[in-house]
Amino acid sequence: MAAKKYKAAVLGCAHIAVRSLIPELFNSPRFSLVAVASRDPAKARAVAELYAGVRWGSYDEIIHDRGIDLVYIPLPNSMHHEWIMNALKSGKHVLCEKSLVTEYAQLEGITAFARAQRLLVAENFQFRFHSQHRWVLDALAARKIGEVRVFRSSFGIPPLPAGNIRYSKDLGGGSLLDNGAYPLKALQFMLPGYDFTMKAATLRYGDSGVDISGGIYLDCPEGIVAELAFGMDNFYQCNYEIWGSVGKITANRAFTAPPGFRPRIIFETADGVENMEMPADNHFANMLLHIAECLDGGNFEEEYAQNLRQAAYIKQARELASAPANRP
Ligand SMILES: NC(=O)c1ccc[n+]([C@@H]2O[C@H](COP(=O)([O-])OP(=O)(O)OC[C@H]3O[C@@H](n4cnc5c(N)ncnc54)[C@H](OP(=O)(O)O)[C@@H]3O)[C@@H](O)[C@H]2O)c1
Repeated sequence: MAAKKYKAAVLGCAHIAVRSLIPELFNSPRFSLVAVASRDPAKARAVAELYAGVRWGSYDEIIHDRGIDLVYIPLPNSMHHEWIMNALKSGKHVLCEKSLVTEYAQLEGITAFARAQRLLVAENFQFRFHSQHRWVLDALAARKIGEVRVFRSSFGIPPLPAGNIRYSKDLGGGSLLDNGAYPLKALQFMLPGYDFTMKAATLRYGDSGVDISGGIYLDCPEGIVAELAFGMDNFYQCNYEIWGSVGKITANRAFTAPPGFRPRIIFETADGVENMEMPADNHFANMLLHIAECLDGGNFEEEYAQNLRQAAYIKQARELASAPANRP
């Protein structure tokens, strides 16, 4: 019997949606893209008309459409809480862009409601589903670099045009929620067996009132240290390196390897350096398969737990960065 196809709708014609998630949902073997919403009906229509059979409407129309199983939410961060709750109250599963919420308490409410209604809420970190990281996880399990000593990760981008949502405090902008979320997620994903405690965080603020760059330091009882850096006024970096007792692994295009792109993994030991071109992969398509499998199985606890852990780290980073010693 063919696997069930879930009906999906997209709330907002965001750049990330138009570029990646709308085409991937349309082409997914496990989803049917049925509707696209926008604040502007003409915009929704123009996007929907690119895809056969896709209808368009306002956010409210799509949220209340009974023929939809899952809503993908690529709205500005400050709008996630409201629209996740609206979708859940309307009985729909949710795939929402990172960062899921701007305040940790919002996620506690979301999770309690989703759990009671047996609905999925997943945060869209598609990089988790790129096969390059499987190679690294397997190498760590095989102790190719010995014992892990240090995890370092950076995600930074050059300045964006004025008016971008990332510079708006009201829209939940800022580098921690936008870029910093990735190294934090990567630490949990690449070293899942360790209980890291955040020890220090720095956030640098710009004229827009949002944080423009920062760094985070964590450690764990096994003595591994993690150094994370992020920014949106930076030379582009999108990497992690895992430094062990006898080797080091570096991924240079860790979070944004587009479909068709072959990322490189650098593997160093005393025997030499291997600079490996990894196979291309489509992490968006893989992530949608994962979401469909979660819906098939009906067990959402792992995604809830990941969401909460990520939001807790972000909360701690803010608290540590605003501790008196760090205030300007
Ligand atoms: N996973 C990834 O790889 C990835 C990559 C980039 C961004 N993101 C995340 O995706 C989300 C959107 O990012 P983006 O760069 O795609 O943003 P964007 O292009 O600015 O899109 C945001 C969309 O939200 C809607 N919106 C509703 N109220 C708005 C308001 N007051 N101001 C601006 N837009 C409003 C708009 O859609 P309508 O006008 O159609 O209603 C707009 O197109 C963010 O949470 C971001 O962190 C994720």
